[in-house]
Amino acid sequence: MIDHKRIGCPKLRAKVTSAEEAVKHITHGCTVGMSGFTGSGYPKAVPLALAARIEAEYTAGNPFRVSVWTGASTGPELDGALARANGIEFRLPYNSDPIAREKINRGEMNYFDMHLSQVAPVAWQGFLGPLDVALVEVVGIREDGLLIPSSSVGNNKTWLDRASKIILEVNSWQNPALEGMHDIYYGTALPPNRVPIPLVRADDRIGQPYFRCDPDKVVAVVETDVPDRNLPFTAPDDVAKRIAGHLLEFFQHEVKKGRLPENLLPLQSGVGNIANAVLTGLLDGPFENMTAYTEVIQDGMLDLLDCGKLRMASATAFSLSPEAATTLNANMERYRNKMILRPQEISNHPELIRRLGCLAMNGMIEADIYGNVNSTHVMGSRIQNGIGGSGDFARNAYVSIFVTPSTAKGGKISAIVPQASHVDHINQDVQVIVTEYGLADLRGLSPKQRAKTIIENCAHPDYQPALADYFRRAQENSYGLHSPCLLDESLSWHQRFVKTGSMRA
Ligand code: COA
Repeated sequence: MIDHKRIGCPKLRAKVTSAEEAVKHITHGCTVGMSGFTGSGYPKAVPLALAARIEAEYTAGNPFRVSVWTGASTGPELDGALARANGIEFRLPYNSDPIAREKINRGEMNYFDMHLSQVAPVAWQGFLGPLDVALVEVVGIREDGLLIPSSSVGNNKTWLDRASKIILEVNSWQNPALEGMHDIYYGTALPPNRVPIPLVRADDRIGQPYFRCDPDKVVAVVETDVPDRNLPFTAPDDVAKRIAGHLLEFFQHEVKKGRLPENLLPLQSGVGNIANAVLTGLLDGPFENMTAYTEVIQDGMLDLLDCGKLRMASATAFSLSPEAATTLNANMERYRNKMILRPQEISNHPELIRRLGCLAMNGMIEADIYGNVNSTHVMGSRIQNGIGGSGDFARNAYVSIFVTPSTAKGGKISAIVPQASHVDHINQDVQVIVTEYGLADLRGLSPKQRAKTIIENCAHPDYQPALADYFRRAQENSYGLHSPCLLDESLSWHQRFVKTGSMRA
């Protein structure tokens, strides 16, 4: 039910209108900075009204496309609806919507897939051009006009500051107890005025709980009562459990060696099913009093908070299954002191990740035998989602870990290949690779030592002999022997898949 009391500021209450009226402020060719991060905190009414308007304009023979900037992926009412209406000309910085993915891969939508920590600074630098409209979901508007952020923070601070016009959606579905959970830092600046960010522990608060907002820029306020739409996680299967098991063993080993403290270092866990399964695995581990300095809080992290093993979690958004989102929303009071949501330029800031010494755990598409990792492109050219925050964390983490099942598509694809068909994370940024068959600790190894370890520890038995054979022949016939490579063969596994539907010879 819509709670009209959520708009405390009289000046902004006077701007309450319908989504259909609000959308008139968005015109063909506009750039719109929207809230939203992995299915949480995205605007739910105005994008649908925009999609309807776009369709009507097309029917009338008029072109209507907009550029859409967000925090990361969003929900079907935003990316799905606008992509279906063929309304997105340009999209950044991350997408996981299947309809938008299809459009991008058919070359019908321009997509700028970028490091999530860099979106706000790049917007401030002006390289992205002007921002016409900010469209941001909030939990409420205080009497003094400050905005109570929603279930994701993302780039909202930047959109509100940069945009010429602002449309706010006030969503009554979001629990008002979210107020106070956020930490919005206003101290960032561009070089040469950049100063160190004063955050030294994962649970430090360095900002304020609210967004500032110039009321004169607000052109419309729309009231909604719509749940966040997150996707379900698949329950950890045997493969995921084995991956989690190897990782747990690795952490225990590192503690024993004195390289990690007993409560580990702040955890970062990426998007996707496997990353979530690893968190679930930590439930059975011996580690207590852990912290998380991460991009998103998934189901596994809520479970860790529930059982007390995780003391607190800092992120920029929730990324929960529908069940977990409902549970969290109903019990926000219980969680609010254990969580901090920050702008994504802070949750993913390289300076802070390096300072805190995060343990970064991210999913991947494939790795090659030298440990170059592809997180984004299937067969080198079809984008799956995007790099997201994986680059922010991988390069700067204390230990950078990539996890994946050893095969994909029912065994027709090996996740360990002679050469990655696209590289997001160079081998220097990849320290540990884990599949269900084992863990390759690559720290301090030369390329040839890395290849031997990855093939022996991580490859699926169906592909291991072929990888070992390739590596042996490469050492005999390569142009150079630092990172042996057979140029006419290294991508042949991908080519075979494209031609036959399987990497198997
Ligand atoms: N070749 C082809 N397809 C592959 C593949 C490979 N080597 N590896 C995975 N895939 C496909 C899967 O088949 C699946 O496709 P489907 O949805 O059609 O079934 C899809 O990619 C997801 O794979 P899944 O095994 O379920 O893993 P996941 O949910 O853990 O996601 C990534 C893996 C790489 C797609 C995901 O982690 C990602 O987008 N990463 C980049 C962004 C990132 O790391 N963000 C975190 C930063 S904080």
